[in-house]
Amino acid sequence: MFNIFKKKKEEVKESQFLPLKVREVVRETEDTVTLYFEQPEPFLDYKPGQFLTLVMDFEGKEQRRSYSLCTSPYVDPFPGISVKRVPKGKFSNFLNEFVFPGKTINVLKPLGNFTTDFHSKNKKHFFLVAAGSGITPIMGIMKSVLVNEPNSKVSLLYCSRNENQIIFKKEIESLVEKNTDRLEVIHNLSQPSTEWTGMKGRLTKENILEFAKKAEAEPDFEKEYFACGPEGIMDNVVTVLDELGVPSEKVHRESFYSAAADKAHDDAAHGITGELMTRDVTVILEGDESLVTVAPDKTILEAGLGQDLNMPYSCQSGLCTACRGRLLSGKVKMDEDAGLSPNELEAGYVLCCVSHPLTDDVKINIE
Ligand SMILES: Cc1cc2nc3c(=O)[nH]c(=O)nc-3n(C[C@H](O)[C@H](O)[C@H](O)COP(=O)(O)OP(=O)(O)OC[C@H]3O[C@@H](n4cnc5c(N)ncnc54)[C@H](O)[C@@H]3O)c2cc1C
Ligand code: FES
Repeated sequence: MFNIFKKKKEEVKESQFLPLKVREVVRETEDTVTLYFEQPEPFLDYKPGQFLTLVMDFEGKEQRRSYSLCTSPYVDPFPGISVKRVPKGKFSNFLNEFVFPGKTINVLKPLGNFTTDFHSKNKKHFFLVAAGSGITPIMGIMKSVLVNEPNSKVSLLYCSRNENQIIFKKEIESLVEKNTDRLEVIHNLSQPSTEWTGMKGRLTKENILEFAKKAEAEPDFEKEYFACGPEGIMDNVVTVLDELGVPSEKVHRESFYSAAADKAHDDAAHGITGELMTRDVTVILEGDESLVTVAPDKTILEAGLGQDLNMPYSCQSGLCTACRGRLLSGKVKMDEDAGLSPNELEAGYVLCCVSHPLTDDVKINIE
């Protein structure tokens, strides 16, 4: 039965949001800041590599952005996020400039699949590739491996623009000092100073291949791969690992930005909507069915929120899977599907924040 009134946003908002108080603000580089939060009661329950969704009002409108936790629940007493400025970006510039200890920020509970299970008996070699702010979830994962798995090793390939742009430089150096036999860090700088003697230039497939091939020399270590950074680097990592025959379930990737979703948004704003037309979509939210009318310039999420449905979401770019639902009937067009694994796509999952109905019988179940 349709019930468009049952899951109104306001009714559940209060219970969904968790107010976190900023405890400390640490400037990592000229354009990146780390915010540590006081522990709420009960303690924030998160897995290394997961992200928080920050909820703030800009120009009277509620907006959300995802930020990976850079801390490890096994090591760090206080949860933290690191935020790098994006030119003209609303959240990233605000968080870099105007946030001080004592400020409270509403967040949604931690989410995300860019993580793994840690166990003291594991004997794994973790290959981590990070670029720019992509180091944030990798930091949490790296620290968690080192503290929980005495028989495991970590190799990190970390790309930054220059020496001054290396986020967590000191913390990484200190981890290497304490774990010389288990942690190897290779920095790749795209525009280093003339004194730099390490790896430099654009990270190529050959560089990634050389890094990943080290795994072949260690047959007795199980391998696991994590990559977080711009789409180009991530695509190269995935291609190289695929060519090396690494099973896809051992490769985890996280993207922070989707050019495809951005373009689709821009096109919609300019009335470029191609084959799309206004259609009704049935959205099942925690068992309640609602009929949502989706105009060609809107995604299913935007239309649902516009009708006051309390649909879950975070990044709105098809990357974080917070808005994931299973397509029960009909066809949709997704502007971006990087957030979904091949298995999820096969199982019929769609991301409502980048989906548009292509047929009149679209029915989506959001669990
Ligand atoms: C799962 C997940 C985890 C994330 N974790 C982090 C994190 O740990 N640290 C962090 O700093 N960011 C992280 N992000 C990115 C973050 O959520 C925001 O997208 C970013 O801070 C930009 O938001 P903004 O409000 O400042 O910019 P907006 O106001 O949203 O955008 C301003 C302009 O910049 C463009 N733009 C936005 N992001 C980018 C980008 N990355 N590259 C190029 N152009 C862009 C937009 O298209 C727009 O034109 C994460 C994103 C996801 C999906
Ligand atoms: S809200 Fe992040 S994938 Fe849809």
